[in-house]
Amino acid sequence: MADALVPTKPHIQARAHVASFAAYEALHRASLADPSGFWRRQAQRVTWFRQFDETVQQDFARAEVAWFLGGKLNASYNCVDRHLAERAEQTAIVWAKDEPGQYERISYRQLHEHVGRLANVLRRFGVRKGDRVCIYLPMMPEAVYAMLACARIGAVHSVVFAGFSADALRDRIADADCRVVLTANEGLRGGKTIPLKKTVDEAIAGLPVHTVLVAQRTATATPMQQGRDRWLADELPKQRACCPVEWMDSEDPLFVLYTSGSTGKPKGQLHTTGGYLVYASYTHELVFDWRPGDVHFCAADVGWVTGHSYIVYGPLCNGATTVLFESTPLHPDAGRYWQVVDDVQANIFYTAPTALRALLRVGDEPVKKHARTSLRVLGSVGEPINPEVWQWYHDVVGDKRCAVVDTWWQTETGGILISALPGATPCKPGSATFPLPGVRPLLVDDQGKELVGNGVSGNLCLAGSWPGQARTILNDHARFQQTYFAMYPGLYFTGDGCRRDEDGYYWITGRVDDVLNVAGHRLGTAEIESALVSHEFCAEAAVVGFPHDLKGQGIYAYVIAGKAAEGVPAAEVEAVLKQVVRKVISPIATPDRIQVVPGLPKTRSGKIMRRILRKVAEANYTELGDLSTLAEPQVVEQIVQGHKAGR
Ligand code: WTA
Repeated sequence: MADALVPTKPHIQARAHVASFAAYEALHRASLADPSGFWRRQAQRVTWFRQFDETVQQDFARAEVAWFLGGKLNASYNCVDRHLAERAEQTAIVWAKDEPGQYERISYRQLHEHVGRLANVLRRFGVRKGDRVCIYLPMMPEAVYAMLACARIGAVHSVVFAGFSADALRDRIADADCRVVLTANEGLRGGKTIPLKKTVDEAIAGLPVHTVLVAQRTATATPMQQGRDRWLADELPKQRACCPVEWMDSEDPLFVLYTSGSTGKPKGQLHTTGGYLVYASYTHELVFDWRPGDVHFCAADVGWVTGHSYIVYGPLCNGATTVLFESTPLHPDAGRYWQVVDDVQANIFYTAPTALRALLRVGDEPVKKHARTSLRVLGSVGEPINPEVWQWYHDVVGDKRCAVVDTWWQTETGGILISALPGATPCKPGSATFPLPGVRPLLVDDQGKELVGNGVSGNLCLAGSWPGQARTILNDHARFQQTYFAMYPGLYFTGDGCRRDEDGYYWITGRVDDVLNVAGHRLGTAEIESALVSHEFCAEAAVVGFPHDLKGQGIYAYVIAGKAAEGVPAAEVEAVLKQVVRKVISPIATPDRIQVVPGLPKTRSGKIMRRILRKVAEANYTELGDLSTLAEPQVVEQIVQGHKAGR
């Protein structure tokens, strides 16, 4: 059966940057015929202190790419200073505070002052070009100031999501060798406080961090270690608001952001200045069909790449008004997003399917209570969006009047690669549709053979570089090369499976590696397993994902109990181990179910057969496949019985 097409809307087409499918196709074709010319022209959207000499150099075999070589620019200058002539009094940031109905507006002029002052504070505490600075802040303007202050002086920021535990924070601070950390006394989210400073204290014990700069978000007192900890409120007034920018090389690092892979600990993806900024700006304007004056509301957290590219760098580089949303979609009720949309008159709204699924479940009434007439483009990101959820987003949230864009990309890609364009692309609900101009996706089979034509499924790769691509993994280029460029020589491998249907539409089918996507958060099974076995109650663990109504994927952990757990009731073992994962990683990584098993299905060479464990976790007991190659086939029956008993 052919999938229903949702046509583009004439009133959106009438004002769109790309106003028809034919125009998109022509643009895409031209971009691939002359990528270098295409990106050379796109690069003029940012202000260069010195023009670049060469557009691109790429060598996928070595995992080396460089864009806009010889150019000099500064991301903070592009996101702040260059707007002062035309829009100094325009709101740059609307902070929608956790407390319903409370907003703070920061103009570009004010942003310039805040960023300058904070940059001078960083300098005062010894931060120099190339130094890494950890930002562990909640969704408050200081987080944005801090990112731009680092960029201003050429420091490399490493934002760590404020939901990560002390252990996870510690690993990231140590890996990037950060000596300065910015945090808040507490975070506030959904009416609950989060003890951020306390977590930092625990995380940095024994590490060579010499300065902790503390923003104040709540009235709660927090212990301050003399000589190390400073209140931002005390330090900022001592500094001048004006701070000269450091002119960076196009390929100088802008930031590092940790993300989970199939093996080991999270890796620091390194993004550089020129390519990343051009790409964030380009995709923000094109995909959301942004125009001057539009209010852009991306509900992600700055701790994830979506927040980096579509709350901070893309919108601010383009001179937009960007919304910084501190709360949750359900606080104080399921109408919160739409209340904010009305209050700030947002034209663009961007969130993850997991939030939409939670809202859909509550029903239409909280949506309809609010007008939402300012909305024009609705975006989705982070995981496959179920067709029913897409339709609800379009019909109910968007009143069948807004364009819906399902945007596929990754921390590694820096910005959106596959997405509909509001005025150009007829949509199929559930499909991310087509690659952006300048982007060339390719599907290959497991042997690396390209699957040509339509109506094919395979592993999603990209042929050729794009400016937003991550350049390396911090301190581990070999791993970068191995993970993304070794599997299919000459191509960048995404780790995602994908179908290109009869009409050429791309459908992302999810990860083909051991990476989970839980409520839009990326987690490695290896990471969770290593957290579990860090406790003496767990001798061995195997973690798999299973379909989950709200979160997209849930986390299912099979564990072999350790000696210390002998005689301990299974319920207690499970509770303790869940707590361990929360502590070592984050509450977002908590397994939905832990099943204590007598053994794991392994091949005779000792490899865990995850395929079987996945089938059991999804209660699919009849398609377990051939068990004869297992070392102990009988454990499968025991695992199945245990699963049934726990349902
Ligand atoms: C998944 C988030 C389907 C995908 C920006 C990818 C998606 C991983 C979509 C990256 C989408 C992201 N449809 N799947 N529109 N967007 N993904 O690094 O598996 O947190 O590889 O970046 O999320 O997650 P990350």
